[in-house]
Amino acid sequence: MKIFLDTANVEEIKEGASWGIVDGVTTNPSLIAKEGRDFETVIKEICEIVDGPVNAEVVGLKTEEMITEGRKLRELHDNICVKIPMTVDGIKAVKVLSGEGTMTNVTLIFSSLQALLAAKAGATFVSPFVGRIDDMAMPGMDLIADISQIYENYGYETEIIVASIRNPLHVVDTALYGADIATLPMKVLHQMAKHPLTDRGIEQFLKDWESMKS
Ligand code: E4P
Repeated sequence: MKIFLDTANVEEIKEGASWGIVDGVTTNPSLIAKEGRDFETVIKEICEIVDGPVNAEVVGLKTEEMITEGRKLRELHDNICVKIPMTVDGIKAVKVLSGEGTMTNVTLIFSSLQALLAAKAGATFVSPFVGRIDDMAMPGMDLIADISQIYENYGYETEIIVASIRNPLHVVDTALYGADIATLPMKVLHQMAKHPLTDRGIEQFLKDWESMKS
């Protein structure tokens, strides 16, 4: 399973990359705005830190605007993946950009039918937002199972990025469901590494080791 970081904070990305287990990065306009920095500068910096797909989202809503933005974004670095919202205009833009060999990620996926359309348009990735579905009192991970089954039925190569991950259980489920990628906030990456019994075990080992010397 691949792990992407879901942040536009360069310091967090440096920290995550130093672990040696980060395969890519997802950003969105909200995450970029939170940093208060120039969009292209941030994206270029991220590309220098992580050797894997770096997702940069378009903000135009019309197909032609999305295509123009996507072509500009892909010039920034070979690893740019153009993130496009799941609309009819978006699907048309994905068809064109994917046809030109650009990596694409269809975002804001909330149904298996949307994911089917994205795959048919040739998207490299789809991003179902599990946390936001959970927020509506519906099981977000059910969508991952459905999309996985549909892609398997027809042999689509589009990879599933489980997005809007809010807690470590989402990551466990991502792995159990065999989804391709989990994109995580840095906080969840830290939570994955922690267990109180590990901490207690280390403490006890060191205490026993020291007692040998006295
Ligand atoms: C991923 O591509 C999205 O940017 C992100 O996971 C959205 O997460 P949120 O629902 O916590 O904003």
